[in-house]
Amino acid sequence: AAADKGGWPSFMAKEVSEEPEAVANTLRGRIRDGQIVIPELDGLDELFASINRVIVIACGTAAYAGMVGKYALEQWTRVPVDVELAHEFRYRDPVIGPDTLVVSISQSGETMDTLMAVKYARDRGARTLSICNTQGATIPRESDAIVYTHAGPEVAVASTKAFLAQITALYLLALHVARVRGSLSADEARLQVLELEAIPAKISRILELEQSRIEQLAYWMADTRSVLFLGRHVGYPIALEGALKLKEISYIHAEGFAAGELKHGPIALIEPGQPVFVIVPSPRESALLHSKVVSNIQEIRARGARVIAVAEEGDVAVLPFADEVLRIPLADPLFEPLLAVVPLHIFAMGLATAKGLDVDQPRNLAKSVTVE
Ligand code: G6P
Repeated sequence: AAADKGGWPSFMAKEVSEEPEAVANTLRGRIRDGQIVIPELDGLDELFASINRVIVIACGTAAYAGMVGKYALEQWTRVPVDVELAHEFRYRDPVIGPDTLVVSISQSGETMDTLMAVKYARDRGARTLSICNTQGATIPRESDAIVYTHAGPEVAVASTKAFLAQITALYLLALHVARVRGSLSADEARLQVLELEAIPAKISRILELEQSRIEQLAYWMADTRSVLFLGRHVGYPIALEGALKLKEISYIHAEGFAAGELKHGPIALIEPGQPVFVIVPSPRESALLHSKVVSNIQEIRARGARVIAVAEEGDVAVLPFADEVLRIPLADPLFEPLLAVVPLHIFAMGLATAKGLDVDQPRNLAKSVTVE
């Protein structure tokens, strides 16, 4: 049967509404008594114990999921992680071998560059693991191991719910590898598992409390020609994803930056009225980063930027400097991306809708790029 929108105005609206389930379904059956259990990875303990390097390869939104995953993988497993665009990786001479684990991420499992990068890595002796949302797709078939995301079918060209499922799968993988390597104690791992399990309800809370307000904001901003996104640490890839989504479906100039780079260029772009989304780290868990980002906000505000902060509930430090504050529930820093991205998905969708565009079928783009 043809996929149907189930009463939503677009597939994208339906898929954003399914973001809580995308995370919950990717976790389902993989946590037992607070421990990670991934049957697909049985028999790979020796491999996980022996690797000395991880390279994550992907394209588009999946690559941003990889960038988020790097923070958790390195923090928990202590294995060095690089994240590389598949089309860059496959056309250079990367240092890889039997101790390298190449993790590919692809919603469709058919992206040509990602597939060719997996084959390239395999031919050079690396071990390959696929994180994929499509059962039986080509990339998982060409890989040594598979961890499926269970986001359900994604129809809108621009990826939304699959992104959250990809981060979830990477975190499960990171916790599993950390336990195998002994780099994380059972108790520490259990705490992270609890954080993960709490995410779906927190996403639902954002959809409930903030969605209509964000859509209203997008409606007011329908004539905006350019939007900037700033983030730091795990907020940085979220800034990139927020900008990509806006380019893809609303055809306006959007750019994401690492907040720490502000003085190295982007601040020159700030002129009166320039909208800037700022992803603000938790003041409780990362006080230092929080204060740095708040001073970034003050700097751009002083130059006339219109600041839209994505900040934790209860963070009052941003109030005097932000024109709008979009609230996300409290979470440990590594888990904030799974929350902070939700308002950005809603905003992109709201702005494209306000402009009267087809959010599911943006011009010039394909759901899966199976050609070079
Ligand atoms: C296309 C889609 C994006 C997606 C990217 C990677 O560009 O429009 O939404 O992120 O491909 O796709 P994949 O299926 O490999 O995750």
